[in-house]
Amino acid sequence: MHPFELSRPLRLVQITDTHFCERPGDILSTRVDTDQSLRSVLDTLHYREHGCDDVIVTGDLAQDPVEGSYHRLRHALNGYPFRFQCLPGNHDDADLLGAALPGGNVDCPKVLVRHDWLLILLDSSVPNEPWGWLADTELALLEETLSRHPAPHAMLFLHHHPVPVGSPWIDRIALRNADALFEVVARHAGKVRAIVFGHVHQEFEAERAGVRLIGTPATCIQFAPATERLVVDDLPPAYRWLELHADGRVDTAVHYLDEQALRATG
Ligand SMILES: [Fe+2]
Repeated sequence: MHPFELSRPLRLVQITDTHFCERPGDILSTRVDTDQSLRSVLDTLHYREHGCDDVIVTGDLAQDPVEGSYHRLRHALNGYPFRFQCLPGNHDDADLLGAALPGGNVDCPKVLVRHDWLLILLDSSVPNEPWGWLADTELALLEETLSRHPAPHAMLFLHHHPVPVGSPWIDRIALRNADALFEVVARHAGKVRAIVFGHVHQEFEAERAGVRLIGTPATCIQFAPATERLVVDDLPPAYRWLELHADGRVDTAVHYLDEQALRATG
């Protein structure tokens, strides 16, 4: 038996849609300060997630994609004892993020190998567009990594949702070439266990051809499900934990911050 199987599953945390501003501030005039809400989430992780192997940050890291936002965000993340692995969303400038954000415990890798698992971080952002698209280079990287690497299980991360979540306004800005993604995934049936995303600012789970499709609420504001137009929900900031087992099983749940955690940094 692999020694890893004897000890414990891989433990990940996903945080998403931090929407960090150039200066501390809110988004959509909600009075939710995105600096403060992220700090509440990170403090909660520090308290609850000691055994976390990696924190995956799935896009919309910045509200304003300028150097200052990324520098400030890196500084905020540097204060916590986690490895942060980041990918861009529609609010980000992918090139700028790649240049300005990494440093210390913050990085933007494409592929991570963790014991029996491949973690693949895809860039679905399109400059100046809210919807998503996986460029040929991203699809080729996915295909090649899944083909060549011997790890038996894979989890994919990207910003945009690859299936409708049930709100017309947000489904118009989904991943627009999801079929191309699912074609690659189908060629590696049984290996890709889950596709994990942000962007929808709400909890979501579905399944397609044996692959779990998992959406996660933001570290700032949430969107109400099943709405014609954008409606801000009254749910608090949240994160998702994921346990990836050696046999390919995935356990996961969303943790919403409670009043006490919000007050502690409020
Ligand atoms: Fe977002």
